[in-house]
Amino acid sequence: MSPLQDRNLLLGVTGGIAAYKSAELVRLLRRAGARVRVVMTGAAGRFITPMTLQALSGEPVRQELFDPAHEAAMGHIELARWADRILIAPASADFMARLAAGIADDLLSTICLATGSPVIVAPAMNQGMWRNPATRENAALLQRRGVVLWGPAEGEQACGEQGPGRMLEPADLLRRLERHLAGDGRFAGRHVLLTAGPTREALDPVRYLTNRSSGKMGYALAEAFLAEGAQVTLVSGPVALPPPAGAETIAVESALEMEQAVLDRVNRCDLFVACAAVADYRPRVVAGEKIKKRDETLGLELVRNPDILARVAALPAPPFTVGFAAETSDPVARAEEKRRRKGVDMIAANLVGAAEGGFERDDNALTVLWEGGHRELPLSGKRQLADRLVALIAERYEPGN
Ligand code: CTP
Repeated sequence: MSPLQDRNLLLGVTGGIAAYKSAELVRLLRRAGARVRVVMTGAAGRFITPMTLQALSGEPVRQELFDPAHEAAMGHIELARWADRILIAPASADFMARLAAGIADDLLSTICLATGSPVIVAPAMNQGMWRNPATRENAALLQRRGVVLWGPAEGEQACGEQGPGRMLEPADLLRRLERHLAGDGRFAGRHVLLTAGPTREALDPVRYLTNRSSGKMGYALAEAFLAEGAQVTLVSGPVALPPPAGAETIAVESALEMEQAVLDRVNRCDLFVACAAVADYRPRVVAGEKIKKRDETLGLELVRNPDILARVAALPAPPFTVGFAAETSDPVARAEEKRRRKGVDMIAANLVGAAEGGFERDDNALTVLWEGGHRELPLSGKRQLADRLVALIAERYEPGN
């Protein structure tokens, strides 16, 4: 039996070309046994007719806040209470902005403000609108308040552009809802904070010191945790990867910025996974002007950066901590020494600079160590490896599962 059987689902449809997919979504939800009531915004009505959604849901479709006939049957507050879950699909940039601002000037936004039930948002918009800092900040704010964000996906858009902004497919939304309602997913209800990518330590306005890191492993881990139902916050150094759909992604440059972003959020997290290749040192002074070449040699004075992982592990009530160790030789012994020194629960060691994989490669192999045990994860693609590592973290995080 589907976890959707006999559940009350309020589907919010806002204005966007993806609204045509809502019809298929209603059909799939009904087939899975859910009771579906549809609320449309005014703009949604320009893309799909209420008649279609009414026929598919088998219930009257609501559009107006002040509609005496409908309010007499089931008022907006009753609708807000009726819903076990509210899913907004598609959610336009405008609707997300109004949700973030707490505006209640139409039926759907009023219901969202009044409800005590989880609100899930499936964004759909032009890639430029999704990438706009205003939308990014609204999305991050909503996530901080517990709104669940699914998508958007990357790909070809109705406007002919390529990029993030496509609504997830109805079948994908259905699968996620089923998992969400079943509360399965090994990390359902858990919040995971990850660091990924390199850091950049500025020398002057145009130069920096950095580490070799594509961020692929950290991003693959973020996706693997999301697939297991976790809420994911990803603090990322500069990489050329799209932010994982559904994660809150915070872009940083230097180790100090990464440390601050982590410390600001770590108290809300159950697990901390440090995948970033943090620069161990930064220039003591950052030149205000571009450094000019003069002498044959140039000395740089470097100072130690804080160790973010060790700092989190040393907090009075630390989350479950997972670190990485990139070693050029004897990875297991060195990683175990690192694990103990930093006080970390688990450490994943990999050999770099060899044929085994590692930095800037698509394949990787890991040896994972914890107090009293270790396991080899064989060479595989980073996403597959991430799935295996997440499964192993789940075993150690709650032994007995
Ligand atoms: N790490 C961190 N902050 C730092 C340095 C490292 O959070 N300033 C984290 C990395 O994300 C990784 C782990 O610590 O999870 C191991 O990093 P690594 O640089 O390999 O280890 P170090 O302890 O710095 O040792 P060394 O550089 O001497 O090998």
